Amino acid sequence: MTFVKQNSGLLLERRGGAGSILNSPGYFRIASRGRRFGQFIKMRISHSVFVLAALVLIYFSTFGFKAFFHGTQEAQPESSNAVKPPVYPRCKIDFLESVNDLVEPKDFRDFRNFTQFSVEYIDKEDVPFGTNMYKPRFGGHQTLQEREKSFYAKNHTLHCGFVNTPGFSSTGFDLDEKDKTFMSTCKIVISEFSLKNLCFVLFLDEKSLSTLSSEGNNPDHRGYIDLWRVVIVRNLPFDNMPKNPKVAKFIGHRLFPSARYSIWIDSKVRLEADPMLMIERFLWRTRSEYAISNHYVRYDVWEEAARNLFLKKVNAAAVDEQLTVYESDGLTKFDPSNPNNLLPSYNPESCLIIRAHTPMSNLYSCVWFNEVVRFTNRDQISFAYAYLKLRRMNPNSSFYFHMFKDCERRTMARPLGHRLPHAVVT
Ligand SMILES: *[C@@H]1O[C@H](CO)[C@@H](O)[C@H](O)[C@H]1NC(C)=O
Ligand SMILES: *[C@@H]1O[C@H](CO)[C@@H](O)[C@H](O)[C@H]1NC(C)=O
Ligand SMILES: *[C@@H]1O[C@H](CO)[C@@H](O)[C@H](O)[C@H]1NC(C)=O
Repeated sequence: MTFVKQNSGLLLERRGGAGSILNSPGYFRIASRGRRFGQFIKMRISHSVFVLAALVLIYFSTFGFKAFFHGTQEAQPESSNAVKPPVYPRCKIDFLESVNDLVEPKDFRDFRNFTQFSVEYIDKEDVPFGTNMYKPRFGGHQTLQEREKSFYAKNHTLHCGFVNTPGFSSTGFDLDEKDKTFMSTCKIVISEFSLKNLCFVLFLDEKSLSTLSSEGNNPDHRGYIDLWRVVIVRNLPFDNMPKNPKVAKFIGHRLFPSARYSIWIDSKVRLEADPMLMIERFLWRTRSEYAISNHYVRYDVWEEAARNLFLKKVNAAAVDEQLTVYESDGLTKFDPSNPNNLLPSYNPESCLIIRAHTPMSNLYSCVWFNEVVRFTNRDQISFAYAYLKLRRMNPNSSFYFHMFKDCERRTMARPLGHRLPHAVVT
């Protein structure tokens, strides 16, 4: 596959000759919609618009309208005295030549070759007896004991986002019934002959919708802005704003109960590869159920935390508490020379996550999300702890986890705001 410059807009546009792609009406639709999608993301939208998440396909998610909708980095004025960020390499990915012969491998069709168990989610909590200071909250009031149990890969019921308490108003992330119905039908059915029901969903809060509307971007009568189905989220669950988009980032399997695959893309980056080929290359071909890249320079959790503190992205006491808990539960510094490391890095670049919605992948997503809810919103700090603990508590349950290279991540998801050479990667 050849990546020619980035300003072709977006992945699906590159497919130009859509007619040759697949004899599937569903696929044509997306391919031709891609052009509009490309235009849409180049629209200029004011900085005040706050996007909770945009989910494409399978789903593709973003946070922070500004970067995403401001379009290409070419469009961004460059301050002459700005310090040039270092340029990190991209590398070639051996994608299939085309999606023509894409066939979902048998063991992915029912996920039978993956660890099997069934997880249910706590959706109601009662007011604890004898409590008079009780406030329901999104994610619930998970005790440390419940947290410990939640890591087991076996049939059980755990906290994972949406939870309510009878007699109280909702804990947030409220969606209209018609949106819920629509989302429950979003699935990607992949077979030799069909690719259908790809979903492009944009989550907005009401204020952002009115900002968008005032800029002339009104949803049509079906609730779409261009190809995006707009879903309004009312009553944001977290006062800590950066935690709100984590709902879609981590627990998309709860928002889209029928979706079998998902791709998360952060607003800092632009998708530049075909999502179907990404699924083929990083999940099917490697027989993985979860794929994420390492970080481009930092491999260690303490190092990442120090960087976050330096950039004032996190509260020192909060990160201290979090790391104390993790250290006392066995997290160590990353030692690159240790051949027994379960991960090639303890620090991910979490702006791109490619997932199959298998039991282990869903469980990991829930326990990682719960760490982000309980501790700091910096998910890189909880990534390795949640993973290593999951593995440690389930030594006999496979979790097919693929940590790919940052240079590959850059080929698929290009950082915005960094002026990169117009490399042609082949
Ligand atoms: C499915 O799992 C079995 C048992 O672990 C393994 O032998 C087989 O190779 C797997 N099939 C594929 C296609 O990966
Ligand atoms: C776990 O749940 C699944 C689906 O509900 C069920 O088929 C299976 O028997 C359960 N396993 C155990 C060990 O209870
Ligand atoms: C894992 O499997 C081994 C060997 O079959 C067994 O001895 C051990 O008890 C199992 N561990 C768990 C936690 O199930």
